[in-house]
Amino acid sequence: MGSTVESRSSRKNTSGADRPVGVFDSGIGGLTAVRELRKVLPGEDIIYLGDTARVPYGTKSEETIKRFAEQDVEFLRRFDIKLIVVACNTVSSVAIEYLRAKYESLHILGVLEPGVEEACRTTRSGKIGVIGTIATIESRRHVSEIKRRGDFQVLCRPCPLFVPLAEEGLVAGQIPELVAHMYLDELRGKIDSLILGCTHYPLLTETISKVMGPEVRLINVSHEVARKARGYLLQNGLLREKGRGDLRVYLTDIPPHYEELIFRFLGEKPRSVEKVELEF
Ligand code: DGL
Repeated sequence: MGSTVESRSSRKNTSGADRPVGVFDSGIGGLTAVRELRKVLPGEDIIYLGDTARVPYGTKSEETIKRFAEQDVEFLRRFDIKLIVVACNTVSSVAIEYLRAKYESLHILGVLEPGVEEACRTTRSGKIGVIGTIATIESRRHVSEIKRRGDFQVLCRPCPLFVPLAEEGLVAGQIPELVAHMYLDELRGKIDSLILGCTHYPLLTETISKVMGPEVRLINVSHEVARKARGYLLQNGLLREKGRGDLRVYLTDIPPHYEELIFRFLGEKPRSVEKVELEF
């Protein structure tokens, strides 16, 4: 790991509210959550880790996802963070209980529960759709979390091709629409709410909405997790409201055109982007 990270992570004497919020994802997609966090929590310093060397997680086994997620948390812990936001839906579905059991003293917020809560609260018909990576959908975690909250019907569909489309910036037009039809036609007319259970899907909102029709409400889990993070910080006297917070991005690999990619998901330029190696 780079020496810069060492020196920054050794600042451990800051008061509760001044400590940063840690966010991680399998790659750059989790910056959609950071974008929302920056809107809802403008004063917070954010440390973002994207495991770009090992993305995607969504096609990997539970065992591997848990191991990677643990290494991601270990990295963020060096920054004396006050809260961890798991921006990755795959990790939130497959490994969150594992992480919470292992790091009892850390408050770990995933994107799954806030999205589920919002869908259950706002659905009129009680018929909720969920789309995500293969690992997310196969975990069946959304189904159990939704059913635990009431007598709801849940329809799920993995949409793996949405990830490369969003990364390519191919989010509107013939090709993404064709792909969206292929995945979503089977849900059309059967649900009134659709959880966008993957970091990349908010970029395809327009296309997904066009295919699903205006009567289907799309739930952006990034937006929901940001609200939840604010609630937690406020209740625990940890909210930092003064000034504009800092954003530092750490990636396990610096891909070509990374600046363009980051901007696509984040909508701004972070203060710094550094490469890190996780200790396995
Ligand atoms: N970040 C992942 C998620 O939200 C999508 C990319 C991946 O498969 O790792 O599920």
